[in-house]
Amino acid sequence: MPRPLDRPRPAAATVLAAAVDLVDRPAPTGWLARWLAACADLQELFADHELLDAVIQEVSGRRIRVDGRWLVDFASCNYLGLDLDPEVLAAIPGYLARWGTHPSWSRMLGSPALYQQIEDRLVGLLGVEDALLLPTLTHIHAAVIPVLADQGTIFVDSRAHKRIWDGCVVARAHGARLHRFAHNDPEALERLLRQHTKQPRLICMDGVNSMTGNPPDLPAFAALARDHDALLYLDDAHGFGVIGERSPDEPCPYGVRGNGVVRHLGETYDHVVLTGGFSKAYSSLLAFVAGPTALKRLLKVAAPPYLYSGPSPIASLASALVGL
Ligand SMILES: Cc1ncc(COP(=O)(O)O)c(C=O)c1O
Repeated sequence: MPRPLDRPRPAAATVLAAAVDLVDRPAPTGWLARWLAACADLQELFADHELLDAVIQEVSGRRIRVDGRWLVDFASCNYLGLDLDPEVLAAIPGYLARWGTHPSWSRMLGSPALYQQIEDRLVGLLGVEDALLLPTLTHIHAAVIPVLADQGTIFVDSRAHKRIWDGCVVARAHGARLHRFAHNDPEALERLLRQHTKQPRLICMDGVNSMTGNPPDLPAFAALARDHDALLYLDDAHGFGVIGERSPDEPCPYGVRGNGVVRHLGETYDHVVLTGGFSKAYSSLLAFVAGPTALKRLLKVAAPPYLYSGPSPIASLASALVGL
């Protein structure tokens, strides 16, 4: 089999035409053509990149077997290696024996005590007043951003993660106004904050950015939120578990305890709502929103996934708890 780089690389237009051909005949116009054109670069990747929608046949440490070939895996987000950690793996069967594979109640009806244990541990780790767990950040953004923005104003970083944007679009459908500011540019945000004053006001951005790996200028953004009575809503999917509070005897510049971007940059949770996920560093299908207890109480009734979505599987809850 040719190596990826040896393969002929079809032009995007050819790949798009082939995709269109597969999807529909004759070549579509209108909505379908628009979607395919918007995704043309992804279609090109499909054609010439080995690790895209790959069937991974086997895992051995940080190597994976795809199409009969062993590849070194630089693509997973299991930043702490907890997916293969012997202590985590050994603990899970005990939790399964006790709780079964899946707690299939809506969280509004009842949750295994594991939830409370994880929330308590998180509160201590992050140094925040309270925390609420939901299965994914996708659930959280789609549910929490509309609640916090209500019919007010959202300011969103132009390079915020796609799922933050999706949450903002839901909020817009509920009556919020949406404004975008240049990536990591507090001055651009400040101009918008002076211009658009309808409350409540929410500033949405990544913590550690999912594409660059860089943290934002958090002190500047948090100060703007406080000065303008806005709430800074952060998605630290990639910082949580990896970067943490600084310590004089820390072994490396990532800091210690992995308690996320707010603690890493020496900030407080005043006017800040931190969201983060366990699906990267902690290898679990689980996510959190951290903030005041009053917010947690509100979200239990106002955020749809607490009632209307299924919970995380027991193996994920157990791996999060043991990982913590
Ligand atoms: C920054 C960021 N936010 C949110 C998500 C989505 O997280 P989840 O899988 O928990 O919905 C991802 C990627 O998975 C991400 O990189």
